[in-house]
Amino acid sequence: MRKSVILITGANGEVGHGLITQLAQQDTHDILVLDLHPLAPELRPLVKRWLTGDILDQHLLQRLMSEYDISMIFHLAALLSTRAEFTPEVAHRVNVEGTLNLLHLAIEGARWRGESVTFLFPSSVAVYGVPDLATKTALPPLKEHEYTQPTTMYGCNKLYCEHLGRYYAGYYRQLAAEPERFGVDFRALRFPGLISAATLPSGGTSDYAPEMLHAAAQGQPYACFVRPDTTIPFMAMPDAIDALLHLARAERGALRQQVYNVTSFSLSAAAIAERVGAAFPGAQVTFAPDLRRQAIVDSWAAALDDSAARQDWGWAPQFQAERAFADYLVPRIQARYT
Ligand code: SER
Repeated sequence: MRKSVILITGANGEVGHGLITQLAQQDTHDILVLDLHPLAPELRPLVKRWLTGDILDQHLLQRLMSEYDISMIFHLAALLSTRAEFTPEVAHRVNVEGTLNLLHLAIEGARWRGESVTFLFPSSVAVYGVPDLATKTALPPLKEHEYTQPTTMYGCNKLYCEHLGRYYAGYYRQLAAEPERFGVDFRALRFPGLISAATLPSGGTSDYAPEMLHAAAQGQPYACFVRPDTTIPFMAMPDAIDALLHLARAERGALRQQVYNVTSFSLSAAAIAERVGAAFPGAQVTFAPDLRRQAIVDSWAAALDDSAARQDWGWAPQFQAERAFADYLVPRIQARYT
């Protein structure tokens, strides 16, 4: 008998750390993880099996399918927005072809198990592309269908994968004589910039917020790569994990869309620097905008409208700005570096 497991790709990343810890506590399924790098030692006791490998390796994915009954996939592996601009074609392969491979694994797996496979996909505020700063400033929080003209490879990749997921969930091989009876139950979240106390992101363009905090906690100076007025939505990592788990558990019938915005608080870089300065009195934050990374952040929504998630599956963040800093980020980051 094959064993029923939850598969997590990109498990070593920021979201993976928190997700593995939470899923292991729930103890409902065995966890199988895949990452390009060996799983962090502290996470290893929490999972059934960890594999070092590439989501572009078809043989590896086939092997996983033959060995395990995968009932749910959290597909977290991706190249983030800054890194993707250095190697756009590689980003396309990892972000799009990798997702396609996982969707294929899910639909094949569903056929074998005679039941759909739930597929959780973290999308991003990067799918938005507002034309200029004046428009951005004047706009109300954006709904899922508004201004989806991303200017980054990463944003394009995420937006297209949202569509791929919708296709696999509802239209896969729609002209075949026998329709797919069991398929992919695709659920995507558009995250704002995520801030974790446990890990630092790598290769993102919203990284200035976590970098500022982690630098201050270590007594290091930090030159912020965007202007002080730069505003985008953010979320503390525990809320991001909560959102993923919440959406994974939601009743299929309650979900009126495949893709949901989620957000916690929108802050300017200056406001973040102020909170960092209050928490770490020696903090040395300066502003040295990198005009090209600035343009990317300027094209992202200043705030997201997550009312659909609130209505359909009861989304409600636990950490608004005040609590995120006072109860999670500051104490946890302080503890991390002392
Ligand atoms: N935080 C990500 C990035 O900056 C966006 O999803 O690339």
